[in-house]
Amino acid sequence: MKNFLWGGATSSAQYEGGFDGRKGMDTQDCRPYLPRTNNATTATRLLTRQVIDEAKNIQSTYYYPFRKGTDGFGHVEEDLELIKELGLDIYRFSISWARLFPKGDELVPDPVGVAYYDRIFNFLTQHHIKIFLSVTHYAVPLYLVETYGGWKSKRMIDFYMRYITFIFKRWGHAVDYWLPFNEINTGFFSPFNGTGLIREDAQTPYRYQDVFQSLHNQFVANARAIKQAREMGIRGQFGAMIACFCYYPMSAKPQENLKMVQEEQINQWFCADVLMNGKYPYYMTPFFKKHDVALEFSDEERELLQNYSCDFMSFSYYSSSVISIDEAPKTAGNLVVTTKNPYLVASEWGWQIDPVGLRTTLNKAYDRYQKPVLICENGLGAKDELTADGKVHDEYRIDYFKSHFDEIMKAKHEDNVDVFGYIAWGIIDIVSAGSCEMDKRYGVVYVDADNYGNGTYKRYKKDSFAWYKQFIQSQK
Ligand code: BG6
Repeated sequence: MKNFLWGGATSSAQYEGGFDGRKGMDTQDCRPYLPRTNNATTATRLLTRQVIDEAKNIQSTYYYPFRKGTDGFGHVEEDLELIKELGLDIYRFSISWARLFPKGDELVPDPVGVAYYDRIFNFLTQHHIKIFLSVTHYAVPLYLVETYGGWKSKRMIDFYMRYITFIFKRWGHAVDYWLPFNEINTGFFSPFNGTGLIREDAQTPYRYQDVFQSLHNQFVANARAIKQAREMGIRGQFGAMIACFCYYPMSAKPQENLKMVQEEQINQWFCADVLMNGKYPYYMTPFFKKHDVALEFSDEERELLQNYSCDFMSFSYYSSSVISIDEAPKTAGNLVVTTKNPYLVASEWGWQIDPVGLRTTLNKAYDRYQKPVLICENGLGAKDELTADGKVHDEYRIDYFKSHFDEIMKAKHEDNVDVFGYIAWGIIDIVSAGSCEMDKRYGVVYVDADNYGNGTYKRYKKDSFAWYKQFIQSQK
């Protein structure tokens, strides 16, 4: 089909590796692999002083998977060839802030980091593959976290501007779609991600004041980045991106429905409402009052947000969620815990598979902002088996793609949603962001590596590779 982009994505922390002493340490480098017992999935998400100190200690006995990723740094040429062979219209990847600026506040970037990304931008532009660039994808340089306290400090906006201005100058000509912040709403329910906030200890929760000031500073950085790009004549459109969950109320109880609407506002829409509409939504005023949040928010910033909102809306979607006011069995979702939906089956990680929820989400996102919509992350995280003859028979992933693609097309053609692309997550296997493991794979390309970093890191095409390739060709 013309005018629709089919793509694939990776993120620097999960993919690159190349932790060679030149790249600065970032927050993702501090997260150890913990075998999945005793709820280890959430235990890997603690960014406490102790966790950081252990990570910095070279004697540490933990394995830190993000330092190795799936060795994109060592395989980038081969991987780009695979992306070309697959026939992707668009490739989404992120730049590692700490690879370009190891501490995060330097004036001049590291030439080795620059050369690495030069190769990627050159290859993609030469082969006419569109670029969706995530300027940040969760990882924050550790130096900025320890010295300035992460995004709760307004100083971060200036460091971010220095970082993105370099990117504009060097690669601004090549980028089609800009994403200043990945899944910005996870900064609320998963502040270890993206906002770079440190917890005192595992028992002390994050302060709402810090969380919302951090998000506010990111909104301002987002608007300043758009302003700067416009002034520099940088081409490409700017997107807002949130993690979407397609909420259902467990029953038709009015109170349950109200609770659902309110959770959806805060967890899901809030950040996108600011970035797309250029102002804070009405429902945040009572929320801030209730939680004693007083933002440092100037008139100049208010004007910036208003004048530099995003051009398109994008989201990640993996599974749907259920809100209940009564006790009910729970299951996992993308960085969240939710109520089980009796009408759906779940992945091995408990994420409830719901293709219709994707169509619903497309409708809701388009309805809310009336701007073009891009699905910039979706896919099935599953355990794959590499057979002795080097094959991976992942028909479950093909089924997942098929069922979700059908619903996208219904949203586009039957519902008239202006959806312009689909980007499959972790197109080449990468380390799981939620649980720091290799067992959970999304790719159509298998990487021979295990949870502890053992393996050859050799690439193998899964059955889904041939399927996706053929599918993309059939749409031309
Ligand atoms: C999104 C992130 O939250 O979900 C990705 O942007 C992440 O970085 C993806 O990999 C899937 O989550 P997980 O935990 O299965 O890797």
